[in-house]
Parts: sequence; C-alpha cells; structure tokens
Amino acid sequence: MDKYCVIGNPVAHSKSPQIHAAFAAQTGQNMAYERCLAPLDGFLDLVRTLVKQGYQGANVTVPFKLEAATIATRLSERARAAGAVNTLRFVDGEIVGDNTDGAGLVADIVRNAGVSLTGKRILLLGAGGAARGVMLPFIEEKPASILVANRTRATADSLAAAFAGHGVEVAACGFDEIAGPYDIVVNATSSSLAGDMPPVPASAFAKGTLAFDMMYGSAPSPFMAFAAQQGADTRDGLGMLVEQAAEAFTVWRGVRPATAEVLNNLLNLK
Ligand code: ATR
Repeated sequence: MDKYCVIGNPVAHSKSPQIHAAFAAQTGQNMAYERCLAPLDGFLDLVRTLVKQGYQGANVTVPFKLEAATIATRLSERARAAGAVNTLRFVDGEIVGDNTDGAGLVADIVRNAGVSLTGKRILLLGAGGAARGVMLPFIEEKPASILVANRTRATADSLAAAFAGHGVEVAACGFDEIAGPYDIVVNATSSSLAGDMPPVPASAFAKGTLAFDMMYGSAPSPFMAFAAQQGADTRDGLGMLVEQAAEAFTVWRGVRPATAEVLNNLLNLK
C-alpha cells in the first residue's frame, strides 16, 4: 500500500489524515496517510527515514514549510514563487517540492464561494510565508490590483517588489494607509492564532466584500467578526484546507477528488 503522511510540530490537531482518507475512499486509491510528529530540529532526518521506508510523499505543515523548500532536490514553479513547500513527492531518488496552498485558496474562493478574482481589488493582510504563497496563484486569476499591507512595512515592500511585472498592479502599504473598500480582503497574518486581529480599518470593507481568514476554528476569528460587523461576507480557512489537500492528492495520485462532501462533513463537525 502506498504511504503518505503530514509532518508538523505540533501535528496531533491536523485534519489532513481524515481528508485524505475520504479522498482515497472516494477515488478507490489504495493508500495510507498518517500524522508524523517531527522534532523541531529533526525534520530532515524524518524525511530521510520516510524515503527509506518507501513513503511516496508527505504534506508539510507548521513550522517546517520553509525547511521543506530547502531540502527539495526539485521545486515546482509555484513552490519556488512561494519560497515554501507544503507537498513533497518522493520519486526516483528525488525529493520534489510543491506548494498547493495558494491554489487551494483560489479554488475555495472561486469554486466554493463562487467569487471570481478577475478584475477585483484585493487587499492582502500580512507579508510572511502564508501571504507569499498566494501571490502567484492570485496573479494568475488576473485581479485589477493586489495591495499588500503589513505591520512591518519593509516586508510588504519586498513582497510586492518580488511580484511586480506580471501585468497586475501590486503595491505595498502599512495598515494605517489602507483606504478601501476592497472586493476581497484576505487575512494572511498569523494574528488569529493569538486570538488577535491585524489593525485593519473598517473602511477596508463594504457590503459585498469577501473577508477571508486563512485560519479556521470552531468560532469566527476576531478578523471575521469585525469584517461581518462592517457588512462583509466572511469565510474561514477550512475550505482552503480541503482544497489544498485535493490539489496535493491530485499531484500524488493523478486523480482529482471531489471536495464538496468532504468539506460539508468537516463543517458539520464544527
Ligand atoms: P506565516 O507562515 O503564517 O505567514 P510568518 O511568515 O511568521 O508566518 O508571518 C506572519 C505574518 O503575520 C507577518 O506578516 C506578521 O507581520 P510582521 O511582518 O510585522 O511580523 C503578521 N502578524 C503576526 N501577528 C500579527 C498581529 N498581531 N497583527 C498584525 N500582523 C501580525
């Protein structure tokens, strides 16, 4: 049986085994998928062990996505653009790194939420790894503009500069310079993890704005609650989680699973 896992620290909370088991059952793929806890200084050793044990691939989650990009012997274009890897494929002695997070976010917004990104004004909050990972997939949807706002202005500047010249207006600012409203506001900061929210002004939102938080939890994040107060439609990161998993599954198995039922089952468990 082909073997896969998700590597993280912590990893006990990961829903990926449940999601991939559902995909495997649905598509008739004979595979196992488990959680692998890597010591904080033991990611590389664990990957070597998995390769020796005949694993076919792995997902990578916090805090190893940057390290995974450095150990890959080959990177997909989207992983190179993201500077981070969430999907590894072990094939013919190579470790191939891919990144399906951005594609997952776009699929969730476009297909599941039914909101086109084409021609839209996007405000991206945060300029760390999660924000970087969605830049190229966003640009491919041809929005009118992407404004990157970050607490540390210099990081927003360098992220915007890295994605200039693709035919989409990309600019950077600090939170105090945001003047909306925007069609789509994506919270790619890690602030929700601490029960906090980025200092985004109410003017960023209007009725009809889609406010998307990449995090998910049993209750709406402070960012989502604030956006809803301003009349925005809100969405958390659960659909993105399922869609990035579907993309990884497709990369590994060459067959694309349907996601609606899997997402509904997770929503019912909330
Ligand atoms: P990730 O991989 O989740 O993106 P990261 O690379 O450490 O993690 O980036 C975290 C992002 O969240 C950064 O943009 C960070 O802003 P700074 O560059 O100024 O550090 C942002 N962030 C974290 N906590 C925040 C908060 N409470 N308010 C606003 N931004 C926050």
